[in-house]
Amino acid sequence: MSFDEDSMNETDETVLVRFVVNGRKVACEVTPRETLVDCLRNALELTGTHAGCEMGACGACLVQLDGRAVHSCLMFAVQADGARIDTIEGLTESGAIADLQAEFHRRNALQCGFCTAGMLINAQELLSQAARPSREAIRDALSGNYCRCTGYEAIIDAIDAVARARSEAGGAP
Ligand code: FES
Ligand code: FES
Repeated sequence: MSFDEDSMNETDETVLVRFVVNGRKVACEVTPRETLVDCLRNALELTGTHAGCEMGACGACLVQLDGRAVHSCLMFAVQADGARIDTIEGLTESGAIADLQAEFHRRNALQCGFCTAGMLINAQELLSQAARPSREAIRDALSGNYCRCTGYEAIIDAIDAVARARSEAGGAP
């Protein structure tokens, strides 16, 4: 067998990975270089997570991995083997970000929605770490989330309002 044939076979191999996604145990056959975002979107049909730049710059692909926001375009699916993953679908079903979603809706903080899942997951991450971030801190936290159609003021207003409401209610849910 030639070197090239060896390389082709290695690329075609699949690996079984197991995760807990949105509270459900799942197993997927993936190639070693398949990204987590592709696995979520293609194998698991969780298309709320978007693939934009696919190089860690735009934030469209953010998901929670063991409770922390990560770029699913920068991880191979095999690296997430055994992890707990929560996508925008799971966070929506659980109600964990219902207040953020309602405030984004109320303030027109989205238009096409391509960036919105990543914005919400990043906002949730920020508010889990800082109960009352300043507008400057919110702006800074969103510096890795690109929005091409809404502009950022309404998004910052929405996150600021939720931070205030959660803080007055005694902390993040
Ligand atoms: S698609 Fe992952 S950061 Fe842009
Ligand atoms: S709402 Fe369209 S990219 Fe943000």
